[in-house]
Amino acid sequence: MTEKSHPNGGAWRNFYGRVHGKTMNRAQIERLENNLADLSPGPITHKENPDRKMLNLEARFDGRPVWLEVGFGGGEHLIHMAKTYPDVAIIGAEPFVNGVAMLLGKIEAEGVENIAVHPGDARDLMDVLPDGSIQKAFLNYPDPWPKARHHRRRFVTQEHLVPLARVMARGAEFRVSTDIEDYVRQTLEEVPLAGFELISGPDRQPWGDWISTRYEKKALREGRVPHYLTYRAP
Ligand SMILES: C[S@@+](CC[C@H](N)C(=O)[O-])C[C@H]1O[C@@H](n2cnc3c(N)ncnc32)[C@H](O)[C@@H]1O
Repeated sequence: MTEKSHPNGGAWRNFYGRVHGKTMNRAQIERLENNLADLSPGPITHKENPDRKMLNLEARFDGRPVWLEVGFGGGEHLIHMAKTYPDVAIIGAEPFVNGVAMLLGKIEAEGVENIAVHPGDARDLMDVLPDGSIQKAFLNYPDPWPKARHHRRRFVTQEHLVPLARVMARGAEFRVSTDIEDYVRQTLEEVPLAGFELISGPDRQPWGDWISTRYEKKALREGRVPHYLTYRAP
């Protein structure tokens, strides 16, 4: 592994998922080139301590509550939540460029204005989020990594959950959905170790404001059963 320098002083991590998919069309490439800068959750600053660079969410989002969606895929849930809760700002993190391009198309088509996009690994975003700054977080159908030797790549590991606990406000809701039984097992084991308290689930019924994502539709077509879990942040 080669370690590249990180803008916040740390090291880039290995990301094992897909970053590129099939060829994008002209409009998608143009949106990626032209629209991403305005949708950034940045700039990164830290008033009191210039060595500890942080996003200034209050300035960026006019003091609105800020939510986080990890791995938004094609952005169906992210767009739906942003439209359902116009007074909230939602930051989506997704390293898969084709997914980001799909979201940008939806943002343009729907005229949604309360979304920010981090086109990369959620760990790099969490590094620059202030403590207690996220009021709700969503992890929908995270990559299953079915082989036992790959389970440590799953999002529900301390490497991801400890920073998530830090950036979430006390008592804030953390929602997890998955169609993989063994992912439920690991979620039930690992998420409480980072201090989260299970308040509901694994449930078979989704949340009242849920919208089915692309990945969930595929899981249902293939006969897998969705599980929904709700936690409270420490
Ligand atoms: C199985 S897909 C599900 C996508 C979408 N949430 C859905 O339900 O259709 C998992 C997504 O998580 C993204 N992902 C994996 N690790 C991530 C990370 N560390 N930070 C942000 N996104 C991540 C992947 O790129 C992928 O798009």
